[in-house]
Amino acid sequence: MLNPKKMPPKPKELYIYVNGEWLPNSQAKISVMDHGLLYGDGCFDAWMGMNGFIYQLDPHLDRLYRSVHSLQLDLRMSKKEMREKIIESVQKNALVDFYIKTVVTRGISPHPVIDPAKCEKASVIIYARPKIQTEVTDEVKARGVRIKVLSIRRVPRYSLEPKVKSLNYLNIVMGKLEARVSGFDEAVMLDDEGYICECPGFNIEAISGNKLMAPKNDILMGITRDTVIQMCRDEGMEIDEGFFTVYDFVNADEVLLSNSVSGIAPVTQIDGWKIGTGKPGKYGLKFQEIYLNWLKTGVNGTQCFPEAWED
Ligand SMILES: Cc1ncc(COP(=O)(O)O)c(C=O)c1O
Repeated sequence: MLNPKKMPPKPKELYIYVNGEWLPNSQAKISVMDHGLLYGDGCFDAWMGMNGFIYQLDPHLDRLYRSVHSLQLDLRMSKKEMREKIIESVQKNALVDFYIKTVVTRGISPHPVIDPAKCEKASVIIYARPKIQTEVTDEVKARGVRIKVLSIRRVPRYSLEPKVKSLNYLNIVMGKLEARVSGFDEAVMLDDEGYICECPGFNIEAISGNKLMAPKNDILMGITRDTVIQMCRDEGMEIDEGFFTVYDFVNADEVLLSNSVSGIAPVTQIDGWKIGTGKPGKYGLKFQEIYLNWLKTGVNGTQCFPEAWED
């Protein structure tokens, strides 16, 4: 546990890192000429943390730098420095349970025009905030998530590579909107050939007998997806990273959603189809518990307050 007496004091306002400065939340601003705002020209990543531990700091950081490289952003900040700033964002805000988001954009353009070459250098924003409950709340997890098969398809890799966690999330936002207006908790997207790929903001996996089915087509390679794969390996399951249809998933014993902020959530309905018994299954329940335990105890974690941590 973290010893509260050894923790730094909480600031009056949360600090946010913006282009080299730590600013109070109310003063943290970016230019109206920033290409991230104008064209969604940039990328981001997000971490989850509990008890002062950042879960999977380096795998997320590596993914962020792969996104930066793919978009040819001129980020004049080494991975080591970014890592230090991310840890500092938690320390400065004295956060115990939190999430962190890092946004890198192409930067400020002299004119509001598309030409990326005109932007001088990348903008960097880092914010750490107290943990939040997203749409998939503990209540929704307890009864099981009801998801819709969306009419909107995932943007294909030959148009915009979904492995890049880009700021171009309109495809995802519209997917979420379709789920909401249709009265579902969440939704699943198909690729242009009709194979299941991922959900707006989540990866999706299914368990059938002793096999995990983890789609690999047109998805963001989720860090929590890797965690699910690791847990299934620990259970001695066969891992099948391949192409799956709605038929494969509605006939599975269990279906899971995974992402860093919401963790692992059991799906109990896809469109009208009941999954398994229609209640959260044994692996869904077990993996949620293990995930929470790993977050809290620092498995795959980096402790931001080593001097305050007492076993
Ligand atoms: C489109 C998309 N897929 C999958 C995920 C899950 O990724 P991770 O487990 O790394 O959070 C996210 C997370 O935000 C996402 O935006």
